[in-house]
Amino acid sequence: MTPRLSVIGTGYLGATHAACMAELGFEVVGLDISPAKVELLTKGTVPFFEPGLGEVLARNIANGRLRFTTDFAEAASGADVHFICVGTPQAAGAQKADMSQVFGSVEQLAPHLSPGALVVGKSTVPVGTADEIARRLAISNPGVEVAWNPEFLREGFAVNDTLHPDRLVVGVRSDRAEQRLREVYAPIINEGVPFLVMDFPTAELVKVAANSFLATKISFINAMAEVCEAAGADVTRLAEAIGYDPRIGNRFLAAGLGFGGGCLPKDIRAFMARAGELGADEALMFLREVDQINLRRRVHTVDLARKALDGSFIDKRITVLGASFKPDSDDVRDSPSLDVAVAMSNAGADVVVNDPKGLDNAARVYPHMAYEQDIMAALSGSDLVVLGTEWREYRELDPAAAAAQVRSPRIIDGRNALDPIAWRAAGWTYRALGRPHA
Ligand code: UGA
Repeated sequence: MTPRLSVIGTGYLGATHAACMAELGFEVVGLDISPAKVELLTKGTVPFFEPGLGEVLARNIANGRLRFTTDFAEAASGADVHFICVGTPQAAGAQKADMSQVFGSVEQLAPHLSPGALVVGKSTVPVGTADEIARRLAISNPGVEVAWNPEFLREGFAVNDTLHPDRLVVGVRSDRAEQRLREVYAPIINEGVPFLVMDFPTAELVKVAANSFLATKISFINAMAEVCEAAGADVTRLAEAIGYDPRIGNRFLAAGLGFGGGCLPKDIRAFMARAGELGADEALMFLREVDQINLRRRVHTVDLARKALDGSFIDKRITVLGASFKPDSDDVRDSPSLDVAVAMSNAGADVVVNDPKGLDNAARVYPHMAYEQDIMAALSGSDLVVLGTEWREYRELDPAAAAAQVRSPRIIDGRNALDPIAWRAAGWTYRALGRPHA
């Protein structure tokens, strides 16, 4: 019998997973505790910016395979495989993850689960969580099984990453659980995507290990950027040259303002906290350095800006290009660009922030900041421009047209996204992270 699915939590991960599983042909019910979110999704509207997701969502609501609810009983009764996709944010005042949504949602789901149901965790969690959920469900719901199936999707590419992932990883304790997941993912497995079966702790660790590696790669190149700046070298050429070695690879070697978002920063911190609880804290000491290098990029950019403005932010107008933590996303969680904007504003500058999609979210978090949706209006009268997120709109900006708007043509390219030669030729004083001065 074709499995029917529920997806608990409809944030970036859950909404995408629900829509994509319906796209694969399954009957899916998505649950969220927010009635506003459920109302939007039911209308076929994605509550955040994610290219391509709106079409998949609308198509599958229209064909009747996908629906949304706030009611756990309704979600559970319509399904026999349940994906837990709720958030695991950084706990307030601590490095570890706040697990209340994961345990809370399983607790609310439990009374409505049919015997033989499979609960599949997708959220990024501290190792040991799957075992703890299995222990609790064994008491309340004997016969209900648990599996762990980490998700590796990137914001901005969520639909493609879900339908055509690099690999599928499942942590299981029985052949039956493995078979159920093979049925769910059959269309993807049939495309030749590797399906890796392992135990719970390994599956949980694969996710945080992958994100830790990616964070380390970014901080590695940013550490090189610091040395390049001190030595008068160019980190973009260095990255290009080392990237030709296939053992190193050229992806995720873009030096600049570093990583942000709702995943990499909090995941490496939660991983260190969990390793500490397990007595393995020494093993992950390097991640503290990875975090420090990353945060230093923001401080360094503020310093560069102050220097560019002859030592003072007072009475200076600064345009910050970018509020989201990366292009093609409206997510401003732990956004390096927005962080720099706020720091310069707090230091006395008159800062205006532009972003193609992220301004509403930015204004919710920092209502006191000034925002301008139109790029040219944002540049108008500026003493300094700081590019903090490499949106296509900024990479394609005409330096001469931009120069005509500002009071003083000075730019700090925080993402090494612009062509220094073209910008300098148009009269700009161009500075970048890890690259020589003119
Ligand atoms: C990241 C991982 O890439 C996904 O595989 C993972 O599933 C996801 O976290 C998650 O745990 O849910 P995401 O947060 O969407 O995905 O963003 P990335 O594309 O990884 O970018 C993270 C940050 O690193 C961005 O701020 C980006 O600007 C920065 N970055 C990326 C660099 O500074 N340099 C690079 O070379 C690449």
